[in-house]
Amino acid sequence: MPMRQILVTSALPYANGQIHIGHLVEYIQTDIWVRFQRMRGHEVHYVGADDTHGTPIMLRAEKEGITPKELIANVWKEHKRDFDDFLVSFDNYYSTDSAENKILSEEIYIKLRDAGLIEKRAIEQAYDPVKEMFLPDRFIKGECPKCGAKDQYGDSCEKCGATYAPTDLRNPFSVVSGATPIRKVSDHYFFKLSDPRCENFLREWTQVKTPLQAEARNKMKEWVGEPGESQLGDWDISRDAPYFGFEIPDAPGKYFYVWLDAPIGYYASFLNLCQQKGLDFHEWTKPDTTTEQYHFIGKDILYFHTLFWPATLHFSGYRTPTNVFAHGFLTVDGEKMSKSRGTFITAHSVIECGLNPEWLRYYFAAKLNASMEDLDLNLQDFTARV
Ligand code: 2FM
Ligand code: ZN
Repeated sequence: MPMRQILVTSALPYANGQIHIGHLVEYIQTDIWVRFQRMRGHEVHYVGADDTHGTPIMLRAEKEGITPKELIANVWKEHKRDFDDFLVSFDNYYSTDSAENKILSEEIYIKLRDAGLIEKRAIEQAYDPVKEMFLPDRFIKGECPKCGAKDQYGDSCEKCGATYAPTDLRNPFSVVSGATPIRKVSDHYFFKLSDPRCENFLREWTQVKTPLQAEARNKMKEWVGEPGESQLGDWDISRDAPYFGFEIPDAPGKYFYVWLDAPIGYYASFLNLCQQKGLDFHEWTKPDTTTEQYHFIGKDILYFHTLFWPATLHFSGYRTPTNVFAHGFLTVDGEKMSKSRGTFITAHSVIECGLNPEWLRYYFAAKLNASMEDLDLNLQDFTARV
């Protein structure tokens, strides 16, 4: 068999939290696949990075009295330690807050803009008049419009399960300052996914060209629809200052939304590796390349990887992923991991307990398959199997 050239990624963990065993499902799954391809003699490059930008990271740094750059440097060390402990064999573990990522993000944005796929539009959003910042939905709380439960987030009620818009909350307040949010207009930059070129490309890419898991392909079919019936909305790729991220080249005070530069971070990590190893980044990432590119992800971020990311790549002159592999979530003894139930298990705590990391690798390997079904860590079963 001819030698294949394969670029592989796992999703980039946010730099504001610890690696837990739910994350490890994915890194272990990817790592096993990567080791398998290496053993077959193929040329494999497995890259990762911390996902460092966005409002939560900015606010957490502020709370800790350090700069976002200091925060992400600290977290990077912890994440790297955890991946090393669990024998995840990254060829490069990098950061989205890198020079390479800034250059690539700017270049890609400019190509999309020059292709006529970026549109500026004024939108109205919640704004914290005390902290003087726009508020993402997660930073607004209030009373549930249906049952009146206090302290509920702007999307759904944990008490009664109702879903609603943040504007429906009664007595809303900013989680950052406690102030009552006001509505404020500002200009945002949109990637015009509703453009017929994008729609046609994505229909072809998700339904014909890419051997997605059947579940993923069907999901995407709902979005891309039949010609003329697409549900694709334009994608807001900008955020207003203050924001920790990359400033948009032709729009002072506006920043790339973290989900624009995060997947580009895969390429930034790979570009950095290419520079270390003397690989030709362009040959690997040009549209007609013979190299392969696979992304392992959780099912919750499927549409970022099967809609936004391929469209971003295609319309900025890059190759698109060969495939995207989505896995399900991890439950512990049949339930969602939870801090209060003591089932929120960090990678580091497993090591600190003196457990052999290979036990968890083996257990996940024995239970994982190609589907997007959730998998359960049953502690009794774990003991018995190991
Ligand atoms: O959902 C998450 O945890 C994101 N940090 C994943 C980013 S993956 C990639 F696109 F960067
Ligand atoms: Zn409610």
